[in-house]
Amino acid sequence: MDIAITKTQEPKIKPTDESTLGFARTFSDHMFITEYEEGQWQNPRIVPYQKLSLDPASPVFHYAQEIFEGAKAYSLDNGEVGLFRIEDNARRMNRSADRMCMPAIDVDLQVEAIRRLVDLDRDWVPTSEGTSLYLRPTMIADGTSLGAHTASRFIYFVIASPTGSYYQQGSKPIRIRIETRHVRAVKGGVGRAKTGGNYAASFKASSNAKGEGFNEVLWLDGRTQSYVQEVGAMNMMFVVDGRIVTSELGDTILPGITRDSVLTLAREKGIGVEEGKIAVAELYDAYDKGLLTEAFGTGTAAVISPVGELTWNDRTIVLNNNEMGPISEMFYTELVGIQRQRLPDTHGWTSVVPRYRG
Ligand code: PLP
Ligand code: COI
Repeated sequence: MDIAITKTQEPKIKPTDESTLGFARTFSDHMFITEYEEGQWQNPRIVPYQKLSLDPASPVFHYAQEIFEGAKAYSLDNGEVGLFRIEDNARRMNRSADRMCMPAIDVDLQVEAIRRLVDLDRDWVPTSEGTSLYLRPTMIADGTSLGAHTASRFIYFVIASPTGSYYQQGSKPIRIRIETRHVRAVKGGVGRAKTGGNYAASFKASSNAKGEGFNEVLWLDGRTQSYVQEVGAMNMMFVVDGRIVTSELGDTILPGITRDSVLTLAREKGIGVEEGKIAVAELYDAYDKGLLTEAFGTGTAAVISPVGELTWNDRTIVLNNNEMGPISEMFYTELVGIQRQRLPDTHGWTSVVPRYRG
């Protein structure tokens, strides 16, 4: 696949203290970019990281025709760099594209673009525990008119950022408020697509919650506001009577790759898995009976994030004494072990980034 490469003449200064990276605050030296015009993705190339120049009338600004992905490149102990289920990210990108009336981009091109970018910027992959190079493939609608219809030109790009933990407190359990006023997604809507508007629409509720000391909100279903959906950047899992209970997939939640990985691992370990409709009232009931013992979120950025406190209206429940529970910890260790290729990968989830320059 022909991907032209123009290397930067002005390499940036890399962050030196990996313990203060946070989430996606600095970006590597290069980016991948290609434009869709006349029915084809054109001129795929890697260029120095740079600003985009867009017409102010571009549909992305007015009608939010935008989709994105989130993946990570991991430093391996042998000095190589690994990717995790990257084809699944590329396939999900195309499902989001379909929902948002945007063109698909060949999975092989997406994967090759990511491999080449990571190879070129491999010195940007941090090595310490809990760090990675976060990858953000993005597609936006480009154009020069304000008609409210799908665009005919699109831009796909990938940027990369050395990253540490998503939540400021690191791996300490988070505080979540169950959102009872706003809703994130409804049946038939775009909740399942990874599209920017879903996040913009959630900021009001999460910023209100943050103002009151919570890390994030847990969304409920848009119709009855009784059933658990997901958190802003992660799917939710509950440990009830030793089983993993999580919301079923559908129109309204993102089909998380980490979610699927955890459920696959759980089934293999003989841990019961229940995917279904989870009523908050039933969860609280299970807590009162001593059956709800842990809750954690799963996501690329969030990895496995234990929930220490869950607040629903005026009732807060504390899970596992506000410490990471044994099942959450087991999945964290297992998942990160596979991602960093320290544990056997029996599913073909991982790959090593080739050294294209020899
Ligand atoms: N749910 C939402 C809304 C997300 O943004 C993410 C992050 O990508 C997830 C769930 C978790 O998905 P994944 O595990 O594929 O990163
Ligand atoms: C990811 O986990 O990759 C995401 O895209 C979540 C994002 C909202 C930070």
